[in-house]
Amino acid sequence: MIKPNIVLIGFMGCGKTTVGKLLAKKLGFTFIDSDTFIENKLNMKISQIFEKYGEKYFREYEHNIIIEIGKLNNHVVATGGGVIKDKKNIAELKKKGIVLYLNMPPERIYTNIKDDNSRPLLQVDDKLSAIIELLNQRKPLYEMYADVIIDIKDDTVDNIVANIIEIVGGDRFE
Ligand code: S3P
Repeated sequence: MIKPNIVLIGFMGCGKTTVGKLLAKKLGFTFIDSDTFIENKLNMKISQIFEKYGEKYFREYEHNIIIEIGKLNNHVVATGGGVIKDKKNIAELKKKGIVLYLNMPPERIYTNIKDDNSRPLLQVDDKLSAIIELLNQRKPLYEMYADVIIDIKDDTVDNIVANIIEIVGGDRFE
């Protein structure tokens, strides 16, 4: 069955937003980023939400947003890296979406986000070790929930998007 949405899951810094924006543009879909949606609704940055209300509050809010996003059509959705922590999120997203896991090695993730201070769960001295540890916990979940795993190594964003379109996009235009 061809589903109307494409949902990107994966670890922080694996490129869900960058890939999602280009993919949406190429497919003529609308792009939506769940973190940005949350930030706009609460008029606060994710880091401020964690700081002021804590992670539990963020996760509950995120779940409600996912329910809203799950109802859309013809969207490319970039999710937050922790969306897989609640299997109810995935059930909502799968109702109308094919779920793609952007599987990137921790070293490249580190390169992408080493200078970024916006992610509350990675505000530690040894970021690479924190990435490796959290990725080890989460990888089985990303893999379990993925309809398709997109392995990314040295690929450019253009390559990744072309690969995705080949795998899932082609028959959308038939
Ligand atoms: C989180 C990932 C972040 C954001 C929040 C928590 C996580 O999104 O939702 O900081 O638990 O992995 P990105 O994956 O877009 O960085």
